[in-house]
Amino acid sequence: MIIGLHSFKGGSGKTFVATNLGYKLSEKGRKVCVIELDMKAPSLHSFFETEKFVNELLTKKASARDYLNEVKENLSVIVASPSLQEIKRDLMRSDVESLKILKRLQEVLAELKSMNFDFIILDNPPGLSYMSVNSMLVSDIIFFVSRAEKDDLAGLNILYEVSKNVEKQKYVILNRITERTKNIRLSYPVAAKIPCSCEITDEPFFVETFKEHEVSRAFDELAEKILGLR
Ligand SMILES: Nc1ncnc2c1ncn2[C@@H]1O[C@H](COP(=O)(O)OP(=O)(O)O)[C@@H](O)[C@H]1O
Ligand SMILES: [Mg+2]
Repeated sequence: MIIGLHSFKGGSGKTFVATNLGYKLSEKGRKVCVIELDMKAPSLHSFFETEKFVNELLTKKASARDYLNEVKENLSVIVASPSLQEIKRDLMRSDVESLKILKRLQEVLAELKSMNFDFIILDNPPGLSYMSVNSMLVSDIIFFVSRAEKDDLAGLNILYEVSKNVEKQKYVILNRITERTKNIRLSYPVAAKIPCSCEITDEPFFVETFKEHEVSRAFDELAEKILGLR
């Protein structure tokens, strides 16, 4: 199953959800790969010692196997390059080039499926780019990750409008929920409300370090919900 994470704005928590949801699904015995596709704002590279980046994997014939960073049993991550040159290259990419990347992405997904990955989590670029919108088409289930703040929520309406012809299961993951926002209601289906662990933000595998934290419980429930959807 391919899970696509999207958001209107950057910084809403896509990468945080990708790694922690991936971790929880792997803990439940599923084989999971997280792919960081936000090549304009890479963040996962700092947690892995690697020279193998998704940018290269998606622009040349290569085997995904060589780009996997193993986090733990059943959990691997493919990260985006932090090099300024690669970030600039992504900013300059034409729609035709993006289309080629999307085609390569489909080959990579097929290869990962042949390696028996149960879940592939796509940590997509934010906003309405050619890449992000078309990437919705390769997912089986789409999650819009949003903070419960006015600006992010306005962006949600736009994402739903743009994706209205994409016939996939679509849910919202509300992230960084606080006392003030915990009772928020939306007109879209909400799959999870992830609290803010605002005192600790620099922890990509939060659920591993803080097993009993309410954030970890929320990810556990989300993982169970996803397993129930299959
Ligand atoms: N629920 C949360 N509690 C605490 N920190 C969070 C939470 N969600 C995201 N963060 C932190 O906020 C920052 C932005 O999140 P990130 O996942 O990188 O956003 P995106 O990938 O959507 O740009 C990161 O430092 C991340 O660790
Ligand atoms: Mg990110």
